[in-house]
Amino acid sequence: MSFDLVFFGGTGDLTWRKLMPALFQAWRHGKLPAGGRILAVARDERNHDSYREWLKERLAAAEPAKRPTDDEFAQFAAMVHYLRMDLSQPADYAALRDWLACRCADTVVMYLATSPHLFPVICEQLGKVGLNHPGVRVVLEKPLGHDLASAQAINRAVSAVFTERQALRIDHYLGKPSVQNLMALRFGNVLFEPLWRRESIANIQITLAESLGVGTRGDFYDRTGALRDMVQNHALQLLTMVAMEPPSSAHADAIRDEKLKVLRSLKPFDESSVTRDVIRGQYRAGAIEGQAVPGYLDEAKVPADSSTETFVALRCEIQNWRWAGVPFYLRTGKRLAHRHAEIVVNFRPTPHSIFPGAQSPNKLVIKLQPDDGLELHLLAAKGSVHTLGSGQEVLSPVSLDLDFDKAFPTERVGAYERMLLDALAGRLNLFVRSDEQEQAWRWVEPILHSWSKDSSGLRTYAAGSWGPAAASALIGRDGYAWAEEY
Ligand code: BG6
Repeated sequence: MSFDLVFFGGTGDLTWRKLMPALFQAWRHGKLPAGGRILAVARDERNHDSYREWLKERLAAAEPAKRPTDDEFAQFAAMVHYLRMDLSQPADYAALRDWLACRCADTVVMYLATSPHLFPVICEQLGKVGLNHPGVRVVLEKPLGHDLASAQAINRAVSAVFTERQALRIDHYLGKPSVQNLMALRFGNVLFEPLWRRESIANIQITLAESLGVGTRGDFYDRTGALRDMVQNHALQLLTMVAMEPPSSAHADAIRDEKLKVLRSLKPFDESSVTRDVIRGQYRAGAIEGQAVPGYLDEAKVPADSSTETFVALRCEIQNWRWAGVPFYLRTGKRLAHRHAEIVVNFRPTPHSIFPGAQSPNKLVIKLQPDDGLELHLLAAKGSVHTLGSGQEVLSPVSLDLDFDKAFPTERVGAYERMLLDALAGRLNLFVRSDEQEQAWRWVEPILHSWSKDSSGLRTYAAGSWGPAAASALIGRDGYAWAEEY
């Protein structure tokens, strides 16, 4: 299959931090179909060679195992090209069309790694020059809008030019290997499905913790905040993967229909439940791994009086037969103690214990990062079985650990690598449909409205902590604790 992959925003942060390194890894792993071209599009005055030089410097900054050798870079760079474009100029789209037409690839993927306010104009202009034929797909990076109305406006503009099957909304969390494994765990095994319901599960926690601050993205982040940046998309997408009903097939729409049903079943927030069940915080100066770090208000490009949240913890419920009454706790934040993302499924205690001593209910931990694996926490007898029931404490918590990096050492594929390969192959399973994305906005909007009226609920937390104390109180109210507080 020949392909052309066009990156709008070709000199942007996302392109050099995530997309190009992922493509390079795909190439190195021999997964990139042969005969492809990669075209970076941006406004800067560059040519193919100067772009390749710029890219070389950036890829050299990757962690050692991911750095190209000179020889590898030379081969990879031969696929990479550069076209200067002013995205507001129709003539520049005609130049793009001509550049693509000289080869006429089987598949053309337009990856819009630009600010989302440019998506409508880019799509419109692509349509005008005929670059919306069935061989073209468009990949839309998040954030798609900043509320429901703006997301709908973008979706309308995109759908005026591309069909739903051509428009791939990316949420890179869905490409993380553990998320793939969550599907395999739930729907490829018989073991968990009978337990995957309110009768056996006490609560589910989803934590997406970052130790980094906002870095150089202070202006973007300050307009966005943690709710829009992480909850509306990544955290809710993970929640749908955990909570959805078994789809009838692995077909993209069968999966996306089930995810949409979960989003539609989320109990809506109102003002009082926002106050009660949603905690927001902003980091102050602190220390991460022994290094002093500044507070959010001292970060570059952040206004000194900003009330943007860098942390959110919330409690929600899914109103259906499987999950009624089971609390789901979502938590995300910048400058937390560690980079750590996981889903913890806490099972109920046994209905009657014949063993004295503390109960330690079973727990399944789906680890997304930094390690990627599964842990199943059980109780096992540490003493002789003859002492069981004798009044001594004989049961001990143990865990069955599955480290996917060790289990499949050569087959691990990073999230962006997976998403890019899927985009090229036209596999839609991991991309978010417009109705899912709009429903997620619909659900978070009451929180945004309530916060916009009153900023007094913003708590502070020290960088390097696990967020405001109120987040522990939120979950403590139900008699539970966050995973690291056990
Ligand atoms: C992005 C957010 O979508 O995800 C960033 O915009 C965040 O703020 C990033 O840092 C986290 O992704 P990952 O894969 O590093 O956990």
